[in-house]
Amino acid sequence: MKFLLQTQIGVEKITVRELLSKIRSTYSIDFLGFVPHKNGIVQIDWRDKSRFEYQNLGTVEDVFFVVNYVKNIPYSIQAKDIVKFIDSRGLRSNIDYFFDVLNPFSSDKKFRFIVRKKSPHSFRRIDLQEVIKTLFNKNIKRVQVTAEEGVKEIWVTLLKNRLIIAIRLTTKIQRQGKYKTQGIPGALRPTVAYAMNFISEIRSNDVVWDPFCGSGTIPCEMVEHFKFKRLICSDVSENALFITKSNLENVENYKRVKSKVSLRVENFFASKSYSDLIITNLPFGIQHGRDEDFVRRFIDKIQSIKNLRQITVLFPELINISGWQRTSKFHLQVKGRHCILQVLRKL
Ligand SMILES: C[S@@+](CC[C@H](N)C(=O)[O-])C[C@H]1O[C@@H](n2cnc3c(N)ncnc32)[C@H](O)[C@@H]1O
Repeated sequence: MKFLLQTQIGVEKITVRELLSKIRSTYSIDFLGFVPHKNGIVQIDWRDKSRFEYQNLGTVEDVFFVVNYVKNIPYSIQAKDIVKFIDSRGLRSNIDYFFDVLNPFSSDKKFRFIVRKKSPHSFRRIDLQEVIKTLFNKNIKRVQVTAEEGVKEIWVTLLKNRLIIAIRLTTKIQRQGKYKTQGIPGALRPTVAYAMNFISEIRSNDVVWDPFCGSGTIPCEMVEHFKFKRLICSDVSENALFITKSNLENVENYKRVKSKVSLRVENFFASKSYSDLIITNLPFGIQHGRDEDFVRRFIDKIQSIKNLRQITVLFPELINISGWQRTSKFHLQVKGRHCILQVLRKL
């Protein structure tokens, strides 16, 4: 059984680490397969009788179950000939597996088809769509093709000479997180915030601090999924703190750990707070003046914080601090901009 896990560009290797640490079953991982490296997709081949528990993967935003995957479709063929390459028995048995084992929704038969074509075949996307819909209508009794919004989705992708037909398993709530009722322009995606917490290897006796917390995505993911001794959320903006607080209140686990969480309106450079770890994404872009100056002040401040052992920072440039060592770095795309997710440890 093939699954495609969609994360963010550059987070793929963190998703692989998360899979290895959480899921003990028989499967193989491949992110160099038919999908090019660094497109935010990790492919897994599940060879286990148990159900693939994708729901507890924090770096994964979207999960697709591949019901058919065909390689080497000649470029010379017509749309109608595509069906000759599709194994309809395999397709039927995968659809059965979806309904009997995987289906996280109801047994509702309705599916909306999303068809994408990025190939030099001479037929149109719409021709491909009609051919696949007819195939399903004729052969797959458990599926009813509809144009209705909000139903389950089957994604059909013709990518060069490969055809992938996959059912989207994740719901809108899983994709967007449950707690974010309010955001700010620079807010992170929950999957990236989760990845930042995950690679930080937070210990249960750590005091952790996000000094530029914005809408609180990093703290919210931490409260929901990680253990810590204390968590400090601070930001120079009163409005940001207000948003962080209301987002935290939507996190189920927050009521249990509320007494361990401090919310402070403060300028990082003037703050007297201290912690074992800092996990944050620094403000960048024109509204914050020249990045160079900001980075220099950030580095100076880091060197003055007592007990600080490690920082996890997302920023467009590499951060070098004398007496500190970079232990990992990942090149990410955040809102279309190149950013480096980096972990530095005090020597
Ligand atoms: C990129 S945003 C953080 C986004 C956050 N991770 C989220 O997901 O919503 C950066 C934040 O840094 C705050 N900020 C800028 N300068 C600051 C300073 N000197 N001290 C504290 N916070 C500051 C801004 O108010 C902004 O909320």
